[in-house]
Amino acid sequence: LRTLDDFDFTGKNVLIRVDVNVPTDNGRVTDLTRLDRIVPTVLEVLKKGGKPILLSHFGRPTRGFELSLSVQQTVNALSQVLKHRVHFATSCIGETAQKAVETLPEGDVLLLENTRFHAGEKNNDPEFAKELAKLGDFFVSDTFSTAHRAHASVVGVAELLPSCAGRLMEEEIKQLEAALSKPERPVLAVVGGAKVSSKLELLTNLITPMDTIVIGGGMANTFLAAQGYNVGQSLCEHDLLDTARDILKNAKDANCEIVLPVDIVTSREFKAYSDNETLPADACPADSMILDAGPKTVEIIKSHLDKSKTVIWNGPLGAFEIHPYNTATDAAATHVAALTKAGKLLSVAGGGDTVAALNSSNAGKDFTYISTAGGAFLEWLEGKTLPGVAVLQY
Ligand code: 3PG
Repeated sequence: LRTLDDFDFTGKNVLIRVDVNVPTDNGRVTDLTRLDRIVPTVLEVLKKGGKPILLSHFGRPTRGFELSLSVQQTVNALSQVLKHRVHFATSCIGETAQKAVETLPEGDVLLLENTRFHAGEKNNDPEFAKELAKLGDFFVSDTFSTAHRAHASVVGVAELLPSCAGRLMEEEIKQLEAALSKPERPVLAVVGGAKVSSKLELLTNLITPMDTIVIGGGMANTFLAAQGYNVGQSLCEHDLLDTARDILKNAKDANCEIVLPVDIVTSREFKAYSDNETLPADACPADSMILDAGPKTVEIIKSHLDKSKTVIWNGPLGAFEIHPYNTATDAAATHVAALTKAGKLLSVAGGGDTVAALNSSNAGKDFTYISTAGGAFLEWLEGKTLPGVAVLQY
């Protein structure tokens, strides 16, 4: 991987692909995590005398400019975390962008408008990539979280300019490799979330490298049903029962232990603080749904964690967004955090709702590493080549 160490940025325009696709509320950034994580790269470029020109997408625009998807709403938050002035250009290509680059005062940072306002971004149009490349002497990619997209500002520009990985990109790859490619064993994966269908490839790919896989959340229901248990009104993919049985069989053949709930918390309503019952996993009433794993399951998960040296976490164990169905997720995450703090476990988490789920108990901050990536984290775990990483390799 080429890194910031490989180039001399003095007096150069440095295009940096970042991911400012952060949660906002009425134009105000509500979570600074992703912005905080790009600070080291931007400051290093500044320190080395380069002019940082930030490129990013925001959301998934479908018809060009959309005010609610303008990256301008991140300017204040960015200047707050960077402690440098951040200028904004209303287009990421053409005269507007060119002028903004030329007039950028030394020591300041420039943010260009949402790359996805142009159709050429998503289909990696060579002409659009050329337009972007015109703005810089170098290209730095600090967007692991978008590395699964073969878009112009991720892959196209990297092919046109001398390019390298930023510090966040480097760190993401290093930590994920430590957890997945050469982990200290035993290694355990927690795979949660709503649907088996969205994590089928993940489960299949984890069977070989993992010693244990804890399956939780809505997707565990499909596995319970595959074992012949009644799951009542629970979220369950009845068309995937054979697939679930195949996964269980393949795991057994590969000596990978699959941990499923032995007890469940059920309710008649999908609602915070609804009346609920804790029951054995095969006893979900016909009119109820499973919303969390029960305390016996949590104890089993903890004992597996105690025996593990490495854990990879993706997805919640229950309907964590409605209390008290965050209980199993919080308890298991808190245990991972304590083992990590005690130096007994290397813990890496990422993907979709995962970070929000882990932060509900405040446990996330004690994990060894929290990835900034959602979909890209998942694709990496699935064993896929990420185009935005491949393009930076020698
Ligand atoms: C993310 O939030 O995972 C990244 O910003 C990528 O966004 P995308 O899924 O819209 O490509």
